Amino acid sequence: MTTIPPAIRNYLGEVSEKSDDYQASAFWDDLLTEIRGDLDALRAENTTAKQYEDLIVKLNAGRKIKFGFKERTGTLGALRRKIAYHYAYHYGRLVKLIGNRSPITLKGTPKELAEHAAALAFLRSHKLVDGYTKFMEPIPVESTMSTARHYYFKELIKDLTAKNIGEPPYDIMEIGAGAGNLGTFFALSGLVKSYTIVDLPEMLLLSSFTISKYLPESVISFSPTEEVEPGAITFRFLTPDMVDKIPDQSRDLMINITSMMEMDLDVRDNYLKHIYRIGRPNSLFFNNNRRQSTLPLHDGSTWDNNPLLYPYRTDDKILMWEECPFHQFGRMHWHFKQSLCFMRAAVINQTA
Ligand SMILES: C[S@@+](CC[C@H](N)C(=O)[O-])C[C@H]1O[C@@H](n2cnc3c(N)ncnc32)[C@H](O)[C@@H]1O
Repeated sequence: MTTIPPAIRNYLGEVSEKSDDYQASAFWDDLLTEIRGDLDALRAENTTAKQYEDLIVKLNAGRKIKFGFKERTGTLGALRRKIAYHYAYHYGRLVKLIGNRSPITLKGTPKELAEHAAALAFLRSHKLVDGYTKFMEPIPVESTMSTARHYYFKELIKDLTAKNIGEPPYDIMEIGAGAGNLGTFFALSGLVKSYTIVDLPEMLLLSSFTISKYLPESVISFSPTEEVEPGAITFRFLTPDMVDKIPDQSRDLMINITSMMEMDLDVRDNYLKHIYRIGRPNSLFFNNNRRQSTLPLHDGSTWDNNPLLYPYRTDDKILMWEECPFHQFGRMHWHFKQSLCFMRAAVINQTA
């Protein structure tokens, strides 16, 4: 049975109220409805380990939200075989289908499998598949499209930061971290001095769970500034209203992956302002977001959330601003829902 780390237990006592106090975008309000019902039911009682576990299962792999790592049950050999087999067999099979110009119905090939095969093919084309396999071996999670995606972003950002802002470890802030998988990969790669996650109150339950499980040595804090153990990696989990408590010029690297694309305009633009405030001189801001041309609003209308129109400062040193190749390859390649996805990396708050 999962035990509840003390910091998370305290947070469980507050999360329902925080959830009531913050209005997410209509898109996220809809996704979180079910979880909020469960949180309300917990309100009056002391949460048991079983209730916590049930919540995590729902957040991790619920009907609508599926961000979490999948625990690996097989052996290391099975992981290696899965990677090799999915790549060699399924990718080859799908390429044949496309080559024959057959309609891509993916019949008999579940979407997850196709996405995984394409993600591995993408890593291979970037000469990353061997490094990925090695990286995944000691982590007791399954290889999926999502782990391949986070590995790719981790490698890309590692390279950009080393070349442009100096050697690791870094003080990092990620807005909208989902299950906390990227932070886990960063920490396991020795890149983290501290890692701050800003996310919706409910999702912090999931990211803090992931960190406590896969990085049990790290310190978990729900405070923006609380003093922590020297030498330990601190992961801070902050709700959106706490972003203004993060000290000025305190972070080397700010990240947002597929998250600003699901926010309302004022919320998204406010985060941009804070990123420039929180970033140190010559820090790095990386984001990767799709265009959502009909993102719903609470009044029933929609708006066009276009990542080309985020309110960036004109003095950013842009390192890259282009269509996300992983998205291009892994999603659009198979004729899944078409969409534009842009990744942008810039050195911000330049001093020279
Ligand atoms: C599609 S998920 C992406 C998760 C993760 N970055 C990934 O790529 O797997 C979007 C994330 O944005 C978060 N989010 C949505 N609205 C937010 C807001 N107003 N402030 C902070 N995070 C938000 C969601 O809770 C979720 O964690």
